[in-house]
Amino acid sequence: MRNELYSAGIAITGSGSGIPSGRLTNQDLAQMVETSDEWITTRTGIKQRCLTASGESLKTIGAQAAHQALAMAQVAPEEIDLLILATSTPDDLFGSAVSIQTAIGANHAVAFDLTAACSGFVFGLVNSAQFIRTGAYQKVLLIGADVLSRWVDWSDRSTCILFGDGAGAVVIEATSAERDRLLGFELCSDGQLSHTLNLGYHGSEKTIVDSIEVNQGHYQPITMKGKEVYRFAVEKVPEVISKALFHADLTSEDVDWLLLHQANQRIMDAVAQRLSLPPERVISNLANFGNTSAGSIPLALDEAQRAGKLQSGDIIAMSGFGAGLTWGSAIVQWQIEP
Ligand code: ACO
Repeated sequence: MRNELYSAGIAITGSGSGIPSGRLTNQDLAQMVETSDEWITTRTGIKQRCLTASGESLKTIGAQAAHQALAMAQVAPEEIDLLILATSTPDDLFGSAVSIQTAIGANHAVAFDLTAACSGFVFGLVNSAQFIRTGAYQKVLLIGADVLSRWVDWSDRSTCILFGDGAGAVVIEATSAERDRLLGFELCSDGQLSHTLNLGYHGSEKTIVDSIEVNQGHYQPITMKGKEVYRFAVEKVPEVISKALFHADLTSEDVDWLLLHQANQRIMDAVAQRLSLPPERVISNLANFGNTSAGSIPLALDEAQRAGKLQSGDIIAMSGFGAGLTWGSAIVQWQIEP
């Protein structure tokens, strides 16, 4: 059904953060596994991460981010047509978008979850744009949120040092075609590399009646082949950003801000170098949050906006990458005044 206000443009009009109250420093980790602040800082750039504390959940941090984004956009919850929650760690496997919808009172929206691991926010942004560009919806609330601490093996030093919990949100609204602020995008996936990063289900056969069996079990903690994921990111991320820039009729010289999934500072530095972008154009808050999966890009975006870094008109090259493997880039022109 095409809305009368059909328009082909989209713009981000508000952002927000949902930061859980627990803190886990590198020094804390050094008491749990054989590691050190020096090793973690040099190999990753992470100093601490936030963890959901008692009474907090994916719903509470997602709702907090949503409230802030709506306030900045000056949009009431009832005005939202569509709520997309990008997450791999829902409170409920049937979906957690609806619980956030209810928590914030987005009573007229349709809400659903989208799973694309650390690429979730970029995939969600492009999905949101499609609904707006067809004229189906005018106002979308996109939340990227993950509570990876639930699925980390806290005795595995090769992974437990990386991850944290967090949520970010943006309001995306329809604009005229001339004022379109999603300038280009490119999305990719490759299941052949899925074994490098998993939060997999493991079950065993159980007879329920006569000879009829079902498979029942549990999800197992995150496993990762760190070096392979690192090599993949450093090769594919500059490539996908270049393709998205090409679609936007831009080059890396036009980029004001490089905003990558906050996985590892060394990955961000290597990608910036390959795109010939100086370190001061890279948005990074990894030191304080670690890898928050689908939450990382909107969290860093909101922090940069509230710190007054982003100016209206700035070109932001975003890229998410992670399990799947999935990766993608969106080139956005910022339009909110600091
Ligand atoms: N503390 C101290 N030593 C450690 C630790 C630790 N926490 N972890 C591993 N080591 C040791 C290893 O055992 C190894 O020792 P050895 O040489 O005696 O065998 C040595 O340090 C080097 O280990 P590597 O795994 O080779 O270390 P590397 O330099 O590759 O860094 C890291 C590991 C940080 C995980 C890196 O590979 C990386 O960042 N990979 C990308 C991860 C990523 O970006 N994931 C994003 C996906 S997120 C998502 O989609 C959910």
